[in-house]
Formats: sequence, C-alpha cells, structure tokens
Amino acid sequence: MTKREIDPYTGRELTDHEWDGIKELNTPVPKPVYWFLGIGFSICVVLWILLPAWPGISTYTKGILGIDQRDQVNEALAAGKVDRSTWETIVASNDLAELSGNEQILQVAKDAGKVLFEDNCSVCHASGGIGNAGYPTLNDTDWLWGGTVDEIYQTVRGGINSRHDETRFAQMMAYGEMQILSRDEISMLTDYVTSFSEPTQNEQQHTAAAALFETNCSSCHGIDGTGEQLLGAPNLTDAVWLYGGDKPSIYQTIYYGRAGHMPHWDGRISDTDLKLLTLYVSQLSETVSED
Ligand code: HEC
Ligand code: HEC
Repeated sequence: MTKREIDPYTGRELTDHEWDGIKELNTPVPKPVYWFLGIGFSICVVLWILLPAWPGISTYTKGILGIDQRDQVNEALAAGKVDRSTWETIVASNDLAELSGNEQILQVAKDAGKVLFEDNCSVCHASGGIGNAGYPTLNDTDWLWGGTVDEIYQTVRGGINSRHDETRFAQMMAYGEMQILSRDEISMLTDYVTSFSEPTQNEQQHTAAAALFETNCSSCHGIDGTGEQLLGAPNLTDAVWLYGGDKPSIYQTIYYGRAGHMPHWDGRISDTDLKLLTLYVSQLSETVSED
C-alpha cells in the first residue's frame, strides 16, 4: 500500500479523490461515536438476556427475569372480574333502597353508571345530565316524575310516552290547536304562568286568568301551579323550564301542547345496569343539593 499524501495545511491524510485540483481530506469518525455505539450495543445485549426480546418461529426468547406483560394484564383482568362478579351479585340480589345505602355500590354506580349514562343517555340529557331544551336536567332536584330511586328506576325502565306497557304517560293538550282556548285566553294564561315565577303582573287581569287556570290547568298542574309528579306535570312556579320560560315559549307550549318522549330501557340494558344507572342519576342531584 502506498503511503497517502498529507495535506500541508491541516496535516491530515488526503484521499485519492481529486476534482479539478481540489483534494478531499480523509477525516476519520470521531472516537466518542465508537464508544457510544459500543456502550449502546452492550446495553442491548444485557437487555436481550434479561427481558423478552427476539421473536422465534413459534415463541420468543423469554429473558432470564421472566417478566411478561401478558401475565400482568391477565392478573389485572382476573382481579377486575372477581371485583365485578362481587358487586354484580350484590346489585342483582338487592333492591334499590338497600343499594342506595351501600357506599361501595354507590361508588361503583358513580363509575360504571357514568359510562352507561354517557353511552345511552347523554345524546338527549347531555353529558353529566345537564339537560337540553326539551330534555330535562337530571343533576338538579327538580323532578317531573319524582326523584326517589324507585321513581327514577320506573321512569328509566318504562320510558315516557314510549311503547312499553308500563310507560309513563305525559300529555299536555294543544289548547290552541284543538280550539279549547282562544288566542287571547292563551296570552292571558301565558302572563299568568309567568307571574308564578316573576310576580310583577297586573292583579286585575290575574283574577280572570286564575279562573281560566283553575278550570283548564289545575287538574294537572295544581291550583297553585306547583305541578303533579304522578302526571309528569311540571312545577310552573320554580323558574325551571323544560321548554323555555320566556313568553313565546310558554305560549307555544299552551297553544301546541307538549308530549316529551323518552324510550324505555327495559330489555335494552340488563336490570343490573338499570339499577346502576338509577343510582348514578340519583347521585347526580345529591351532589347539587349538597351545595
Ligand atoms: C331520545 C332522548 C332520550 C334518551 C336517549 C334518554 N332520555 Fe331520559 N328523558 C327524555 C325526555 C324527553 C324526558 C322528559 C319527558 C317528559 O316530558 O316527561 C326524559 C326524562 C327522564 C327522566 C325523568 C326526569 C324527571 O325530572 O323526572 C329521567 C330520570 C331520565 N329521563 C333518565 C334517563 C336515563 C337514565 C337515560 C339513559 C338510559 C335516558 N333518560 C335516556 C329523553 C331521553
Ligand atoms: C292533562 C294534564 C295537563 C293539563 C290539563 C295541563 N297540562 Fe301543562 N303540562 C302537562 C304535562 C304532562 C307537561 C309536561 C309535558 C312534557 O314533559 O312533555 C306540561 C307542561 C306544561 C308547561 C311547560 C313547562 C316547562 O317546564 O317548560 C307549561 C307552561 C304548561 N304545561 C302550562 C299549562 C297550562 C297553562 C295549562 C292550562 C291551559 C296546562 N298546562 C294544562 C300536563 C297538563
């Protein structure tokens, strides 16, 4: 081998490549790069020996530490199953009154019930049950159909105006469309209904409207307008509105009537899940009333 030419300026060897009189320096890779490569490779070898690493045809090298994430997953799943079967048995074999006194089950309902709620109910009632126009808020203490666990269970199980045999039935007649009341009478009633929650109206007009209300509306909403949960007739005095409390919305409600529809869940989800949902919904309002 002939000795390579030395570059007079840097003192480095030159390669034999030459372009138009310019020659290329033979610059070696710096030593630290080799050290790092060497250290990195040694660490790999150690890890290959300790941990599962190389795939084979039907198996793989297991590593001398015997660590296997599949085992860890299986253990976690088995623990979850034992957990689930314990609380599932408790939920299935106790009634709601007993379950609502069981802290552990209430906690399960908070977690598992939340998932069920988000999957099945939030399309209408919104995430966390905060409600939408026409879809009641479930995280308050204002109930159309009653807020005890048994009442909530019945509402969810049979639905409202649904095809289930045990559906709840809510019907507010279309007083205008069916020509039961004139437009003027409906306007008077609109003012009157508004006055329940905003008492600033003309007294004299009220006497006539009160009579109309008593004849037409009190059978469901009560003479004082506080509603009747057995009929799903809302409390009109509390400034909580399902369909809006401004005058045009109230007029619309009286003129065209309202009949909210909620599908039944009996047969679509298991009874255990129904109970969990009930406990979840009932806890939504508890957190609010504690405030
Ligand atoms: C398709 C829309 C829809 C879905 C989905 C739905 N709901 Fe409803 N829900 C309604 C409507 C509308 C009402 C009010 C009906 C009425 O006017 O009385 C209601 C009422 C209720 C009430 C009664 C509230 C009260 O104040 O008494 C409860 C409780 C309830 N829903 C729970 C649920 C749960 C739990 C789910 C999920 C399993 C669910 N809903 C899914 C539409 C829905
Ligand atoms: C047969 C029973 C019944 C009668 C009579 C009745 N209502 Fe209703 N009313 C209901 C029901 C049930 C609802 C709830 C409908 C729903 O949730 O879909 C309702 C809803 C309403 C609402 C909407 C409340 C809200 O939160 O948005 C207003 C306002 C109202 N009624 C006013 C009246 C007035 C005024 C009269 C008399 C002209 C009257 N109602 C007569 C059953 C009745």
